Amino acid sequence: MAWTWLIFFFSSLVVSATASHCSIQGLPLVRNISEIPQDNYGRQGLSHITVAGSVLHGMKEVEVWLQTFSPGSHTPIHRHSCEEVFVVLKGSGNLYLASSSHLKYPGTPQEYSIFANSTFHIPVNDAHQVWNTNEHEDLQMLVIISRPPVKVTPTSTSTHTITAANGVRLGIIRKPTSPNLPVFREAPAYRNADSCNVTHKIHITMTLDANYIRGTMPVVLSILQHSTCPENMEFHFLWSRYELDVFSSIKSTFPYLSFNVYLFDSNRVRGKISKSIRQALDQPLNYARIYLADIIPADVKRVIYLDSDLVLVDDIEKLWEVDLEDKVLAAPEYCNANFTKYFTGMFWADKKLAKTFNGRKPCYFNTGVMVVDVEKWREGGYRDKGVNHRWNQHGLGGDNIEGKCRSLHPEPISLIHWSGKGKPWLRLDSRKPCTVDHLWAPYDLYLSSIHSLEE
Ligand SMILES: *[C@@H]1O[C@H](CO)[C@@H](O)[C@H](O)[C@H]1NC(C)=O
Ligand SMILES: *[C@@H]1O[C@H](CO)[C@@H](O)[C@H](O)[C@H]1NC(C)=O
Ligand SMILES: *[C@@H]1O[C@H](CO)[C@@H](O)[C@H](O)[C@H]1NC(C)=O
Ligand SMILES: *[C@@H]1O[C@H](CO)[C@@H](O)[C@H](O)[C@H]1NC(C)=O
Repeated sequence: MAWTWLIFFFSSLVVSATASHCSIQGLPLVRNISEIPQDNYGRQGLSHITVAGSVLHGMKEVEVWLQTFSPGSHTPIHRHSCEEVFVVLKGSGNLYLASSSHLKYPGTPQEYSIFANSTFHIPVNDAHQVWNTNEHEDLQMLVIISRPPVKVTPTSTSTHTITAANGVRLGIIRKPTSPNLPVFREAPAYRNADSCNVTHKIHITMTLDANYIRGTMPVVLSILQHSTCPENMEFHFLWSRYELDVFSSIKSTFPYLSFNVYLFDSNRVRGKISKSIRQALDQPLNYARIYLADIIPADVKRVIYLDSDLVLVDDIEKLWEVDLEDKVLAAPEYCNANFTKYFTGMFWADKKLAKTFNGRKPCYFNTGVMVVDVEKWREGGYRDKGVNHRWNQHGLGGDNIEGKCRSLHPEPISLIHWSGKGKPWLRLDSRKPCTVDHLWAPYDLYLSSIHSLEE
């Protein structure tokens, strides 16, 4: 979603052209900070003092703020086209910084601890957020900003307009089509069981975007809940655009989760996607899984790729341990499908394409659940192996056109997959759930569609 939010600082004061150059706009040279007015601009937990500002005081080169955040409060995720230096005077917390310049994986927000007497600077235009994570103490910082007045672009989803008493009007202009990000409950911390006797990491890859985040959360929760070694899980999320609020949502729902986010360049698949029978399948991010071997770090040798419309009901370690023999990937394979319905009339009308299946017994594998030897994949030579169908009780979303209700197959189950058009959260929200959707519901951490970020 290209949500564009802009905060503008408007001035109702006219900056006097004749201001003395000894003091700014006739202000005393020395002032008592305790006597400078403070405001919270409608943000709970914030106390903001403009020590020296462009709008209030006519500063042209720098602007200085003193900000205090009460426990648990935070800035919105935002960026601006000026340099910014923070000096932490009191308290402690976290800085999230998504650098577009110098990190190994551009776009991945990094977490930094900040503490009293620490200082940090934000490179121009890097998205960032500061949280007071200390439950007992205020976080107080001096903020120095170059080139005022600053134009702030939040990546968050809140909207408000405030007219502050000091004459600074703070307005946010929002594209009317921006959907709100859902709010999720915080998941419990899952710890390794005493019986966990493996030390290796289990790498799980999924795609991540605001549209499907409702489905992403239950996948993560169900993996952690049924795993003997939840602390060994490492998630690698692929996203096609930079959505720091989505990142923030994962972070606040699973505060203990070990994960990274990687940017997938949609240009890699542009022009290569043929029209399918379901529009949702045409999204570039759907094809990111083909490139995951190049995207995730080179020291990861094996990954499990999972769709966002499923839940695990068994220990994922068992799937991880699948014997790939000398193959590159293992996926559930199906050989009894009626392919007529899988392709559009246009496909069958094309003689060359239509004869693809002549004289063959066609099978397909579901790419929504794959165990991939990424090292072999990088080397080339792609051969696949079937995994037991218990790892993909699929098709519960119904067919690709109507999304009708389907029921479970009478076989053992380790993973339930709502592949197809119907998604359990949509059917539950519209109060027309299928019976199988009640199996998904316990993993839904969804609270409401009111956005989680600052109001
Ligand atoms: C600064 O202002 C505060 C609050 O009004 C006051 O208590 C304090 O005495 C002042 N300090 C000085 C040095 O004037
Ligand atoms: C901050 O640093 C100064 C100078 O080194 C020191 O005097 C002061 O005690 C420090 N404060 C904290 C909270 O560490
Ligand atoms: C780990 O535990 C499982 C059962 O929890 C057991 O079957 C397996 O043999 C154990 N492996 C090692 C190396 O101890
Ligand atoms: C496959 O599906 C098509 C269209 O629904 C139907 O006409 C055809 O008979 C089916 N073929 C088999 C082998 O079931």
